[in-house]
Amino acid sequence: MIWFGGDWNPEQWPASVWATDVELMRRAHVNLVTVGVFSWSRLQPTPETFDFGWLDQVLDLLADNGIGACLATPTASPPPWFTDGLPVTADGVRLTPGSRDTYCVNAPAYRELSERIATELARRYSGHPALRMWHIHNEYGTTCFCDHCALAFRRWLAGRYGDPAELNAAWSTDFWSQRYGSFEQVQPPRTTQYLGNPAHLLDYRRFVSDAMLGHFVAQREIVRPSGRPVTTNFALGGWVPVDHARWAREVDVVAVDDYPASVGDHLAERAFTADLARGWAGGEPWILMEHAPGAVRGPDGVTRALAPGQARAAAGTYLDRGASGVMYFQWRASRGGAEQWHPAIVPHEGPDTPVFREIADVGAALRGRTPERPTASRALLYDEQTMWAWQSPHLPTRDIDYEATGRRWHHALGSPVDVLPVDAPLDSYRLVAAPLLYLMSSATHAALRSYVRGGGTLVLTFACGLTDEHCRVTPGSLDDLLGVRIVRHLPGEGHRWLDDVEPAGAETVRRLDGRPVVTEHRYGQGLVRYLATDLADIAPWLSPSRSA
Ligand code: GLA
Ligand code: ZN
Repeated sequence: MIWFGGDWNPEQWPASVWATDVELMRRAHVNLVTVGVFSWSRLQPTPETFDFGWLDQVLDLLADNGIGACLATPTASPPPWFTDGLPVTADGVRLTPGSRDTYCVNAPAYRELSERIATELARRYSGHPALRMWHIHNEYGTTCFCDHCALAFRRWLAGRYGDPAELNAAWSTDFWSQRYGSFEQVQPPRTTQYLGNPAHLLDYRRFVSDAMLGHFVAQREIVRPSGRPVTTNFALGGWVPVDHARWAREVDVVAVDDYPASVGDHLAERAFTADLARGWAGGEPWILMEHAPGAVRGPDGVTRALAPGQARAAAGTYLDRGASGVMYFQWRASRGGAEQWHPAIVPHEGPDTPVFREIADVGAALRGRTPERPTASRALLYDEQTMWAWQSPHLPTRDIDYEATGRRWHHALGSPVDVLPVDAPLDSYRLVAAPLLYLMSSATHAALRSYVRGGGTLVLTFACGLTDEHCRVTPGSLDDLLGVRIVRHLPGEGHRWLDDVEPAGAETVRRLDGRPVVTEHRYGQGLVRYLATDLADIAPWLSPSRSA
């Protein structure tokens, strides 16, 4: 069976609409709806009072109609009475309720309230016949710089480094006199005078990811005795301070949200998200938890309708890549509120409309379908910590977009291809590509060497392995593997960037203006291909055999 449905926010509508909604859900073959995501102020109108009557009715109605509930804990949007635990920006501005996601996961008061509402929900609904899955929170992503965060950050650093001397070494604090005498002296990377320390910035993102994970795990443990799978929906993008490869090990089922930006290329964008989710899931089921029905919103802020048939093509893209569920945001368009113009399965104009008809057709087509289990012989490594490192303040160029490059390589690799975190097992692949893998720990260095030694073909590019996991430069660290000496980096030359290489064992298979730009090196039983510049046409270099 494939999960099919979306976010349903019945609290935005009078109860008289609910029966119509459920009737329409049946018509559209919906079998799962996410409920309660933004309902905290309804469920707990004051700190001391709870009101579950309406949710009882909603869940009963779903159960009576054979529709499952993916029941959310509402902690992504605290009610207006919540004032102790508001987040603080890097500039020191304490944010005010008025939108959503206005919380600090390290504030004890917020943690306590989150666990309390989760406990109430678990107590009341763990045995409910509609309950299929728990949806903790929503799109974790608020970065905070408050004093609670400062304390928690110091504890996290002490756990990671043990001794300030280790921290000083990892963060290269002798640069600009940043040497710490104790962990107590460390601050979150709040707004400062000039460039911040890249290692400090990167560790803060790792810390924020772990702190939010702590918030997730606390709720997961509360709802777990129900025996239902527990998940949270991953938001994607460079701003999201969540290390999804790490989180994937903590959710019972990986769930991702996907909002492509272009009408023309939306299927390629979806394919990347799907392959990424499958890689995080590591062979276990994964779900597309949200996508917009019938439209995409571009970076220009314009919501554009998809052509007829494209909603079905979109669903097919996720399903072909192994999705166990295809869900939308949202079921019924909101009359008011910030996202009142967001596309919905039931638009403002009602169900007798093109989008409803098309989504209902998708639902009909999915009946009887079971999840695919694609297998690929080629893989793309995609590392979110590297994406964060590419946001460091003073890189040799601003002209590198890690995410866009990952997408371009993914497209060039074709299908099927697995998109994998850097610590995934690689031995089953004939070819592994790792463009722009700037950050490379010694574990990654070892894993890549062992993969090639065993007979794999590895494709690396300029700017790979420039630093260790603390953003400390590691010159020459790939030379033995690549069979070249990289003598300098020339950003702005060649295509975007050019590494000046002297072959030392490798064979040059392509030159640009006389300089080697693609080399190949036999290493153990395998082959390493190196692209020293950002070639426009990468497809010819993605085959697992020798090019020359
Ligand atoms: C995210 C959120 C939803 C909604 C959609 C549409 O995925 O999880 O609540 O805001 O985006 O913008
Ligand atoms: Zn905080």
